[in-house]
Amino acid sequence: QAQQKQKQATLTDVLEKAGDSYRKQLKTAQHAIDYLKKRGVSGEVCKRFGLGYAPAGWHGLASVFPEYDNPQLEESGLVIVSEEDKRRYDRFRDRLMFPIRNVKGECIGFGGRVFGDEKPKYLNSPETPVFHKGRELYGLFEARQALRDMGYALVTEGYMDVVALAQLGFANAVATLGTACTPDHVQKLFRFTEAVVFSFDGDGAGRRAARKALDAALPLATDTRSIKFLFLPAEHDPDSFIREFGSEAFARYVGDATPLSRFLIEAASDGCDLGQTEGRAHMASNARPLWSLLPDGVLKRQLLSEIAALAQLDSRDLSEIWAKEAARTA
Ligand code: UTP
Ligand code: MN
Ligand code: MN
Ligand code: MN
Ligand code: MN
Repeated sequence: QAQQKQKQATLTDVLEKAGDSYRKQLKTAQHAIDYLKKRGVSGEVCKRFGLGYAPAGWHGLASVFPEYDNPQLEESGLVIVSEEDKRRYDRFRDRLMFPIRNVKGECIGFGGRVFGDEKPKYLNSPETPVFHKGRELYGLFEARQALRDMGYALVTEGYMDVVALAQLGFANAVATLGTACTPDHVQKLFRFTEAVVFSFDGDGAGRRAARKALDAALPLATDTRSIKFLFLPAEHDPDSFIREFGSEAFARYVGDATPLSRFLIEAASDGCDLGQTEGRAHMASNARPLWSLLPDGVLKRQLLSEIAALAQLDSRDLSEIWAKEAARTA
């Protein structure tokens, strides 16, 4: 255990050192600076998030770590060892670097963006002893104070969403790291705030992400918490939206965000014609697995009544039907 601790501390040291070097190299990487300018990223926000530049060569980190063969570099995810000839090379090359920090502020990994249309657009650190994608939220460390001041968190999909929102007045933004939002993510957020607004991209992937976030959030939707879902126009993500329409327009979207209870009913009603008996029955059937994830409380009871009313049923009848259904499928 103690040995494990020691090891983890050193891995974050290694990552921190790489991050320092990437930061320094950004100062002289003209195409990276031009790229940031083109996207409207200010020097101030660049500093806040410690953005950097990973140089184009295969062994840029050799000048940072004279012991380039050290297995810790591989373990940190910064260096890849080729399966074929065992040769080592930098994972991140010619990319804009976003350091990912844990809640203690230690660097635990990176996301790196290409400057053009190459694939993959973003390369992320692999899972390591200190980095677990399903648990970490990009920007959470940087957002801590704003979460207290603003009283809620904005959960986005991307690095650039967090950066743009922070620059334009929403320092309370965080991002899942290109993975679906997990119950671990939501749980972690609720350590810092009692209110969460999910703000994913307006495209199909963003809507699917919102549905997954609903599943992740339902078990944590206690009566004292606020969970909402913000839906942007289809062609936008928070970054493009706030840069095009401004902070006030974005704030209006936050104000109009859909509460979890309504999103649950909308999700259950998807594809159901509530004007038809069959459609109402189908909606109620879709609602059960979602509703059953809710913790016991007032909200859960209220939703039962609401769903029953929509299904044109007595809530006691619905409750009885659901109890039998749950027993059958358990
Ligand atoms: P998006 O495709 O929406 O990218 O992916 P973006 O954040 O809007 O990026 P820009 O504006 O083009 O720079 C959302 C998030 O999914 C993850 C990243 O975390 C990204 O920010 N992702 C995306 C990857 O990890 N790898 C990829 O190749 C693409
Ligand atoms: Mn771990
Ligand atoms: Mn997207
Ligand atoms: Mn996006
Ligand atoms: Mn984007």
